[in-house]
Amino acid sequence: MQTTSWQKGTLRFLENYNPSDPEEISFRLILRKIEKGSTLDFTSYKDKCLKRRIRVRLRSLEIDSFTEYFELLQNNEKELKELIDTITINVTQFFRDLTTFQFLMENIMQVMCEDKARETLRIWSAACASGEEVYTIAIAIMEVFGRRLEKLKVDLIGTDIDDKSLELANAGVYPSKNLRVLAENYPSYLEKYFVPSGKDNFKIKDSVRRIVQFKKRDVIKDPHYLNMDIIFCRNLFIYFEKSLQERILNRFHEDLLPNGYLVLGKVETILGMGEKLFKSISVKERVYQKI
Ligand SMILES: C[S@@+](CC[C@H](N)C(=O)[O-])C[C@H]1O[C@@H](n2cnc3c(N)ncnc32)[C@H](O)[C@@H]1O
Repeated sequence: MQTTSWQKGTLRFLENYNPSDPEEISFRLILRKIEKGSTLDFTSYKDKCLKRRIRVRLRSLEIDSFTEYFELLQNNEKELKELIDTITINVTQFFRDLTTFQFLMENIMQVMCEDKARETLRIWSAACASGEEVYTIAIAIMEVFGRRLEKLKVDLIGTDIDDKSLELANAGVYPSKNLRVLAENYPSYLEKYFVPSGKDNFKIKDSVRRIVQFKKRDVIKDPHYLNMDIIFCRNLFIYFEKSLQERILNRFHEDLLPNGYLVLGKVETILGMGEKLFKSISVKERVYQKI
């Protein structure tokens, strides 16, 4: 029989908490409240990361304890929603980790482009937040592949668990601060791929929007995309316990085409069991290849 999210939450609640610490109890009650009020399941997320995110709400409400915050959450749907948004937060940027994209463009994408037999290009960003990463990939492939793209069937898919982020991704309108790295390093891209939109905002052009799709997917529970050339999963594993990271790495291995690539965030690495599935192509840029 399958364990439901609610049962798992209860198990976690019973197993892991220190009953002599009221703050610990309140922390777990807050998690259970979120899990009941959403489709989120934090069973294998790291407590340290979750606590840090919840404390962001505490600070902005000038509340000192999880206990006080748990009380405030009672019958307060608006705050519950704020909390969920804060936990699934989505700090991201166009060309975040610039050198990673330069490495991918100059090495991996360039080689893919030169492969005359290639007919498809399939790339999945598995925790795309508000879309900056996916549009960055789109711009990168447009730069590298140029007119060769017209002859390719391109699937570039961004997925995330968070509705609000996906709404922003679909709209494709960004404040200029999210474009800082792009504007400083590739100023010509601003005009080439964006149109000004309102005060200090830029909208992604239709030519880029057209090759990108966004879907809601939980990388833990939902079906994955198959036959991928590259999977980006950046700055998500930091939230996951090691056993969950290994489970997802196994699935990514199945999702990728032979010799396909996996790109992780700058503070994430593949260790342990994962080393049998992936070899490192660039240690610095966290680029791995399926074995
Ligand atoms: C810090 S952002 C990373 C954005 C982007 N990949 C980057 O590195 O700039 C983490 C994203 O993971 C998403 N997320 C958290 N748990 C998830 C899950 N189980 N499945 C899919 N996305 C998830 C959050 O909603 C958030 O948008």
